[in-house]
Amino acid sequence: MDGGNEERREETVGLVVIVVFAVLAVCSLLVACCYYCYIRFKLSQHLKTKSLNAADEESADVVAAAADERENETKRPHTATAMGAPTGEKVGVVVFPFKQLHIATGGFGKGNAIGHGSFGSVYKGVLGDGRKIAVKLMDHAGKQGEEEFKMEVDLLTRLRSPYLLQLIGYCSDSDNKILVYEFMANGGLQDLLYPTAGGASKLEWEMRMRIALEAAKGLEYLHEHVTPPVIHRDFKSSNILLDRNLHAKVSDFGLAKLGSDKIGGHVSTRVLGTQGYVAPEYASTGHLTTKSDVYSYGVVLLELITGRVPVDMKRPAGEGLLVSWALPHLAEREKIVHIIDPSMEQGKYKLKDVVQVAAIAAMCVQPEADYRPLMADVVQSLVPLVMHKPRSSI
Ligand SMILES: Nc1ncnc2c1ncn2[C@@H]1O[C@H](COP(=O)(O)OP(=O)(O)O)[C@@H](O)[C@H]1O
Ligand SMILES: [Mg+2]
Repeated sequence: MDGGNEERREETVGLVVIVVFAVLAVCSLLVACCYYCYIRFKLSQHLKTKSLNAADEESADVVAAAADERENETKRPHTATAMGAPTGEKVGVVVFPFKQLHIATGGFGKGNAIGHGSFGSVYKGVLGDGRKIAVKLMDHAGKQGEEEFKMEVDLLTRLRSPYLLQLIGYCSDSDNKILVYEFMANGGLQDLLYPTAGGASKLEWEMRMRIALEAAKGLEYLHEHVTPPVIHRDFKSSNILLDRNLHAKVSDFGLAKLGSDKIGGHVSTRVLGTQGYVAPEYASTGHLTTKSDVYSYGVVLLELITGRVPVDMKRPAGEGLLVSWALPHLAEREKIVHIIDPSMEQGKYKLKDVVQVAAIAAMCVQPEADYRPLMADVVQSLVPLVMHKPRSSI
């Protein structure tokens, strides 16, 4: 009997122990599950906050980049896309009384004369607020129709790019036709490439390439960012003006048309542009396209490479015309060496860069207009060749 009871009690204890263990096991499983869920929850919370922060940081970066871009833009944008007011939007232009410009230029005194071109004389002037200006006084104003002059001014006021010379205002009365531009302290590119005082040009390769790129962006704007496109017609080194930091702007993009009327039955020279820069098809047929400007641009590139003017009949036979002389040298590395401007310090340029620019120049001046590149292509090819170093002066 006792043995049976003892056996039953042992069975019951065993059962209780099993149940207790089972309950404990279930409880610890539950605790483990809860803990696991808790950890998962915490982890997901952490990841969420992290990704939100990252998104915030990213958008802050984008905003900062945009702000930087805007700041650079105000300083001076170097991309072709960041260009000025859209076509058709008029920018403020001042109508000056003749007297004000007379005072500003010291009575158009000789001491203030800074140049003379096919339009007329250019004078340096200072406005009442201290702003420096360049005043272009048209020769024989009577020969130009007032309406045409106004039309051109109207065109100029609609174009705005950091790579185009800004028209500040004009004066148009019965006797005078005057254009007032921002003053460019370093004058025309030709002044720096061919110093009148003699001696070698101090323009080094790096600076030449930056000027080439900025001028290309000016033409690109006229050809591809304006509707209808504007053809410069008189692109040349003296129409690339340089500010005090040697940044380049294209000038006279409205004047070619100004002088295009026929005088005494003869076509004025302005229609034909400037000797040495005119595309062959335009010279022979008068057919004008943006590719005529591309040709002229190619001539300027050759000037920058060689340091030679487009036409110089004082040179030995075969060397008088820059394009015909340079063209056979452009395709071969060994020959290019012989045409590089000797006034550039040799260690300051890479031959492979010169070879590349020579190839671009060769494409621009080829006789078949259709095969010349677009200015946008030229800009794209030049961008990698321009080093982004702090501005230097000469
Ligand atoms: N905005 C300007 N700022 C400084 N110099 C200028 C400006 N415009 C013209 N010049 C100077 O006057 C010269 C004559 O200019 P221009 O009448 O346009 O004739 P061209 O372009 O045929 O030389 C230029 O070569 C340049 O040296
Ligand atoms: Mg000019």
